[in-house]
Amino acid sequence: MNMITNVIADPVGALRQKVGAYAPAHDLPAILESILDGYVLSLNGYHSVAHWARVMENGLRIGEANGADLEVVVLFALFHDSRRINEGTDRPHGLRGGKFASSLRGELVHLSDDRFEMLYEACRLHSEGHTTEDATLGACWDADRLDLGRVGITPEADRLCTEQGRQMIEWAHARAIVNRRAYDIFEALRFTKIWQLS
Ligand SMILES: [Fe+2]
Ligand SMILES: [Fe+2]
Repeated sequence: MNMITNVIADPVGALRQKVGAYAPAHDLPAILESILDGYVLSLNGYHSVAHWARVMENGLRIGEANGADLEVVVLFALFHDSRRINEGTDRPHGLRGGKFASSLRGELVHLSDDRFEMLYEACRLHSEGHTTEDATLGACWDADRLDLGRVGITPEADRLCTEQGRQMIEWAHARAIVNRRAYDIFEALRFTKIWQLS
């Protein structure tokens, strides 16, 4: 699976088939619309839509191999940076993202208490530098760290949680570097179109 390549070839199909299939209980375009409704930063920012899409693909690649809860991984990609208030140091932004997901439970987010707790903790702690043995938390956190190249940071293997993540460093980092902010403008536009927001 390569979501970004497929997006270029078949944008609608990429979301419906590649991503939608991993989160069958969720209306992802509606969730994204709800997130962007109160989103205060630029859509072409370092922590915005194109980053979320890359985190989603990174996480699905890891999760398919390590047995993570893929629906949680998909939701993490959308929510984890959804309530940032700046592009720099915003330490509580993960907690805010988790709380926002919580506010949508029963409306747009449909996870059991156990699975929601995983999503919430993945969001809350994602930028604290922790490592974990848990497959789902590890897939989420590694997916985010593998995209650090866009802000000039090279991911370090020993700061990742999963073997799958470590094996992906070269590929993911090369993509993160290429898809920095200037290029992200186009990616963001493409993803907002795919996700039926424009
Ligand atoms: Fe973050
Ligand atoms: Fe992130």
